[in-house]
Amino acid sequence: MHLFSEVSFRNVTLKNRIAVSPMCQYSSVDGFSSEWHLVHLGSRAVGGAGLIFTEASAVTEDGRISPHDLGIYDDKHVDGLSRITSFIESVGAVPGIQLAHAGRKSSTARPWDGGKPLSVDQGGWTPLFGPSKLSFADGYQTPEEMTVRDIADLISAFAQAASRSEQAGFKVIELHAAHGYLIHEFLSPISNQRTDQYGGSFANRTRLLREIVTALRESWPDNLPIFVRLSTTEWVEEGWNIGESMELGAVLKEIGVDLIDCSSGGNIPKASIPLGPGYQTAFAERIKREAGVPTGAVGMITSPTQADHIIRSGQADIVLLAREMLRDPYWPNRASRELGHGNILPKQYERA
Ligand SMILES: Cc1cc2nc3c(=O)[nH]c(=O)nc-3n(C[C@H](O)[C@H](O)[C@H](O)COP(=O)(O)O)c2cc1C
Repeated sequence: MHLFSEVSFRNVTLKNRIAVSPMCQYSSVDGFSSEWHLVHLGSRAVGGAGLIFTEASAVTEDGRISPHDLGIYDDKHVDGLSRITSFIESVGAVPGIQLAHAGRKSSTARPWDGGKPLSVDQGGWTPLFGPSKLSFADGYQTPEEMTVRDIADLISAFAQAASRSEQAGFKVIELHAAHGYLIHEFLSPISNQRTDQYGGSFANRTRLLREIVTALRESWPDNLPIFVRLSTTEWVEEGWNIGESMELGAVLKEIGVDLIDCSSGGNIPKASIPLGPGYQTAFAERIKREAGVPTGAVGMITSPTQADHIIRSGQADIVLLAREMLRDPYWPNRASRELGHGNILPKQYERA
């Protein structure tokens, strides 16, 4: 087993273990994909990655991080996305979509406009929704505490988004349950202080995610995989932690999740994160070992030997690369050559 060996999840086979990690492009108007998305995702498929994830794609309009996020909350979004998936498949890669709701971190400016929370006057929106009336940080809106009715609507928005994802030709769904967005906000005892069946105990805090997975398993084909991205730790004593992530990994496997994508952080602005090469890989290894569920490693994976080692040593089943893929969309081809597997570019480029 190595970086370039195939791997299958349900009926989907990836030609290698390299995935393009979801990355917001802030290049949409009204949630629609644009030529930017086709070229951006398409060139990374040409570069040789086995699995190409879209950025976080909002399941409701008010669940966008910024007004420029990609969305899948309207049937009209399907056509543009279909063009992207069909190109990705035409070069032998698998198209995946990350489904998301930003919760209390919605309504912010895109990074190159400062990234700050946006008021209605500035082009943002209100109200925002979260598990409890607790804002993310100073300057952020305080969300409404979601009612049980709001939660039921949210679950059906995820299920509808999954059906649209199928229509658009995606073969993998990743649920975004990380980085301080809505599902993560329910998992964490810091952002979730509810006293009903969605707050308090581990079973209650994980209920929303479990209900979304169950709804997705109804609306998304049985032969296609579902991945879940978790913030496996919040890096603070009193927060969501790796022990809970391991326990949750085993539960999610039971209800039809095929891989846990092991990220961290994002819910607590003051958390200090020990950034460094492969700083989250150990979490992928622990969850894979303890929960017996396949995992993805992500975070400062940049060198071919590092990525190959993660797979060969069984720490994770796939690697997801984000910023390195922005620097070099042909990274998989570079890795293949460096690791002795030769050129993997499409035939149009065979004289490269
Ligand atoms: C420009 C950019 C946008 C991102 N957008 C998302 C996103 O939409 N969803 C997500 O789960 N993570 C997002 N991330 C996080 C990455 O997927 C990845 O987890 C993180 O950058 C660590 O990997 P890296 O060290 O390879 O960059 C984003 C990162 C970057 C740099």
